[in-house]
Amino acid sequence: MTPPGPGRNSNFDWNEFNPESYLEHNYAEARKDDIRFVSTIGDFFLGRLGGSDALRGVDVGTGTNLYPALAMLPFCRDITLIERSEANLKWLEREVLDYSRVWDPFWRELAAKERYPEVADPAGALRTKAVVESGSIFTLPRNKWEIGTMFFVAESISADVEEFREGLRCFIGSLVPGAPFAAGFMEQSQGYKVDGRLFPAVSITDEDIRKCLKGLVEDDLQFTFESVGDHPLRHGYTGMILACGRKRRAETGTGV
Ligand SMILES: C[S@@+](CC[C@H](N)C(=O)[O-])C[C@H]1O[C@@H](n2cnc3c(N)ncnc32)[C@H](O)[C@@H]1O
Repeated sequence: MTPPGPGRNSNFDWNEFNPESYLEHNYAEARKDDIRFVSTIGDFFLGRLGGSDALRGVDVGTGTNLYPALAMLPFCRDITLIERSEANLKWLEREVLDYSRVWDPFWRELAAKERYPEVADPAGALRTKAVVESGSIFTLPRNKWEIGTMFFVAESISADVEEFREGLRCFIGSLVPGAPFAAGFMEQSQGYKVDGRLFPAVSITDEDIRKCLKGLVEDDLQFTFESVGDHPLRHGYTGMILACGRKRRAETGTGV
């Protein structure tokens, strides 16, 4: 594990991350780019998983974003939501009991596809399946989960490029060989403020993701890009990147 130091993950007080403020800024109104992402994730999982309905799923660094978990719902018997911040853990424990209307537009997008309508009560299903767990991306167990998501985490929890790579590798490492995954990234992010408090980022592009995942994933890795457009979420980033793929069946590569 990378030792602590300025700009690194352990140098920031994640308990000071304000969940209400982050939710309000990022998800209170469903953005078109996020809706397109959840649609692409749904299509990707449907294409790779067909009729599976009892997988063990994980979302890493969930924060206050439930759309990745919703995209895994029909395929999973349980979905572990892993967070480092006590404030976000408390928010998640409440939210999964009966999630708010904020997530309805995301579910509507998914429910227009196959398999998702099988989940008649998504809020009830999430209540039953979600397991909120305190943990860190850097200490995830290896070869555990059969489907996984990680949104805006590896590049948005540290200013150290080595930690970005390590986080991404740990996420892939936590999946069983062949497991499908979807991961979102802010492109060329300069860091971000939550309720006036600055949190770090590593400025990355799809090339950095590709290089890091080399040898760790199957050849069907696919990227989707959303440019900032007319309604950027904030200053200091050039777009959003979605990477969908499967962990390599024979783990031979080093990744970097
Ligand atoms: C930019 S937010 C992304 C939140 C959410 N996944 C989303 O899509 O909006 C980064 C999240 O990573 C969490 N985090 C920070 N350090 C972490 C670590 N070492 N392991 C796991 N999560 C961490 C933060 O608490 C925060 O919830």
